[in-house]
Amino acid sequence: MPIPVIMDCDPGHDDAIALVLAHASPEIEILAVTTSAGNQTIEKTTLNARKVLSFIGSDAPVARGASKPLFRELIIAPEVHGESGLDGPALPEPTRPESPLSAVELAAKALRESDRPVTLVPTGALTNVAALFLAHPELKSKVERISLMGGSAIGGNWTPAAEFNILVDPEAAHIVFNSGIPVTMCGLDVTHKALVTRADTERFRSIGKRCSTMVAELMDFFVKFHEANFSFGGSPLHDPCAVAWLIDPTVFESREAHVDVECRGRLTVGATVVDFDGRTGERNVDVVMGLDRERFIDMLDGALRRLD
Ligand code: BDR
Ligand code: CA
Repeated sequence: MPIPVIMDCDPGHDDAIALVLAHASPEIEILAVTTSAGNQTIEKTTLNARKVLSFIGSDAPVARGASKPLFRELIIAPEVHGESGLDGPALPEPTRPESPLSAVELAAKALRESDRPVTLVPTGALTNVAALFLAHPELKSKVERISLMGGSAIGGNWTPAAEFNILVDPEAAHIVFNSGIPVTMCGLDVTHKALVTRADTERFRSIGKRCSTMVAELMDFFVKFHEANFSFGGSPLHDPCAVAWLIDPTVFESREAHVDVECRGRLTVGATVVDFDGRTGERNVDVVMGLDRERFIDMLDGALRRLD
């Protein structure tokens, strides 16, 4: 039986590839897609999600999330993802409509209607997930797990202490990490090892299909920021890790820890405080620390070969 998931995302190049991977994998069933503001404004991330879902032939319903974090002004990342939030491939206008429901309403409906516990896969700021738990605490029991991209055990990428998704809405992240629901945290510890090299991009392009070409063109743009600012020798493909862990956790290594979120520190706001020793509370999170990069790339390649 495939794992029923709700994808909550801010596409975003790596969010788009996470959607592609989830859609193309028989291990996953996408019940709904909700959008968050982060990589770009909510108008742009919602349009991008609809474009990607239309292009890959997904019929998952898609609903717009909150336009700003719970208590803060929005931070966006055009330097990483471009003015559209998904610069690079020229995607056609979407055929998938936007749901008349809000992200919280659509997620609540999907949870209520599911006869199996659902896994949430947030790959952006955690605003919608926190709002869902605040509005419908009774639906937490329908959530099996949260497999998210965000945070890190050591250091940030947007500030020295904070990873972007957590920094955008630390209060929401605090609510989610303290929800009592098991969390898998695919943070920078693993995603900075989930590198896609230029050779991998050419491997995807050589598949020669519409969707593989789109992913290669997304990588062509995404790599520019990482080559200009880091010396990884590739682009970290953050968000697909949260999907790949669900498909095959044996690709990854993780450690249990108590994780909480710093909401007030002058220099540390948005940091995930990862306590492997459990000194500050019960171990509530599987912190993903490493992966077999070749098997991760093979998984993406296999997914692209299943699409047209
Ligand atoms: C995260 O920030 C966003 O720019 C990416 O889509 C990813 O979710 C990495 O820090
Ligand atoms: Ca993202």
